[in-house]
Amino acid sequence: MTKFIMHGCNGAMGQVITRLAKEEPSVEIVAGIDIADNIDNGYPVFTNPKDCQIEADVIVDFSVAKAVDSVLDYALGRKMPLVLCTTGLSKEQLDRVEEASKQIALLRSANMSLGVNTVFKLAAIGAEVLAQAGYDIEIVEKHHNKKLDAPSGTAIAIADAMNEVLNKEYSYKLDRSQERAKRGEKEIGIQAVRGGTIVGEHEVFFCGPDEVIEIKHTAYSKGIFAKGAIEAAAYLKGKQPGLYTMSDVIG
Ligand SMILES: NC(=O)c1ccc[n+]([C@@H]2O[C@H](COP(=O)([O-])OP(=O)(O)OC[C@H]3O[C@@H](n4cnc5c(N)ncnc54)[C@H](O)[C@@H]3O)[C@@H](O)[C@H]2O)c1
Repeated sequence: MTKFIMHGCNGAMGQVITRLAKEEPSVEIVAGIDIADNIDNGYPVFTNPKDCQIEADVIVDFSVAKAVDSVLDYALGRKMPLVLCTTGLSKEQLDRVEEASKQIALLRSANMSLGVNTVFKLAAIGAEVLAQAGYDIEIVEKHHNKKLDAPSGTAIAIADAMNEVLNKEYSYKLDRSQERAKRGEKEIGIQAVRGGTIVGEHEVFFCGPDEVIEIKHTAYSKGIFAKGAIEAAAYLKGKQPGLYTMSDVIG
């Protein structure tokens, strides 16, 4: 049984995790921390982290970037492993995360979905074999019409996973409209589609002579991030200090 504290418990993700954790016998949310205390979650909610001294194995965070310093302080103060899922961290905060991981077990991932993290691995395998054979690599991602950033952080992370095994020799091409030129050999094209209520789709294309290999991930709900966060919490329980990723959870 993994007992965890949910930081940002009353937000969209906090609520999905609260619902999923109730259906999962191997985990229990023992307390929540959130500046909003407007929901009865069936566990105590603290608006000030200092007031939350309930015993737990791990803290899971889905809040806002400006609250990340406070959750880092809290985890360090209690020497408690932390699953950090909030995105949009500043360079200073990323440095702090690295520093904190010398004292506590810390897992940070911009995408907690086990499926997407498996796509990182599959794309890297594909790139290693097919880029050498001269296949062109393209990524197309699709999201709902409310999304502000493009391309998605996940599309960039897929490109990074491939570029890592390509000795970082590839550049990313986000716009082809400004020039009349053939695509470069060492580039990964990334295109974004925005519309409707698409939760998130990512497709990687390896295009070679007379064949195309496609790897595709489709997200149907936020449940995939919540499920990944719960698995990460169970994984991090009792772990030595260090910086972990979802890749460690997948094994
Ligand atoms: N890593 C992933 O896979 C993944 C997936 C989905 C969302 N996210 C990220 O998780 C974060 C939360 O997403 P969301 O959709 O639940 O957002 P949300 O706005 O619905 O919820 C954020 C919650 O944090 C609370 N909060 C704000 N300031 C706080 C503070 N100082 N202390 C404690 N709680 C505070 C808010 O009251 C709110 O309840 C975002 O950064 C989002 O990008 C990451």
